[in-house]
Amino acid sequence: MNPLIAPSILAADFANLQREIAMINESAADYIHVDVMDGVFVPNISFGMPVIKAVKKHARKPLDVHLMIVEPERYVEAFKEVGADILSVHIEASTHLHRTIQQIKAAGMKAGVAVNPHTSVSQLRDVLADLDLVCLMSVNPGFGGQKFIHNTYRKVAELRSLIEQTHSNALIEIDGGVNEDNAQPLMEAGAHVLVAGNFVFSAFDPKSVIQRLKDVGQSLA
Ligand code: DX5
Ligand code: ZN
Repeated sequence: MNPLIAPSILAADFANLQREIAMINESAADYIHVDVMDGVFVPNISFGMPVIKAVKKHARKPLDVHLMIVEPERYVEAFKEVGADILSVHIEASTHLHRTIQQIKAAGMKAGVAVNPHTSVSQLRDVLADLDLVCLMSVNPGFGGQKFIHNTYRKVAELRSLIEQTHSNALIEIDGGVNEDNAQPLMEAGAHVLVAGNFVFSAFDPKSVIQRLKDVGQSLA
């Protein structure tokens, strides 16, 4: 199985976003990964609604919006309005996670939950069957360009078996430090979606890097 590829526009050239989105549209990418940071849940601030709305106008791939914000339930409908197709909230940021998941689905989006490196995937057991996506953080959220955390492989395998046990259809997305070296072992461990920021956008030819990531796993059943 080939991975689904989600280039993260956090690493894009913000002064040329339209050009960057056009590149993703023409590429083998499956989603556009959109990182929203509030400076509270994570130490960094990225961008918000007006930027996402502008991106949506040009995007021909679904927007995979990753909220790194506290109390994400306050903004679920607002993110739908600006064009989110998949909305992920952090398990560490939403007190009534089950309710938030239902709220995302009721608003007409696919529901995802993101999990920090220190959080055990076993904490997802009771909501897994309701989820469309689990975003496993393979770096501490807040910045692009960080080093991949090796323990992620073990978490992917554990999550994969939890998904089977709970008859969940959730996709496993890996976010942070993904590159050509870890993509194949991540797929072998059971991942479905690979987010890539710096690895794609710092390349001379981002489109061919996306294609190379897409071709990973060609040999897997
Ligand atoms: C980190 C973000 C990631 C980031 C990935 O907080 O959630 O999506 O943009 O960037 P790279 O691939 O550069 O680690
Ligand atoms: Zn992200």
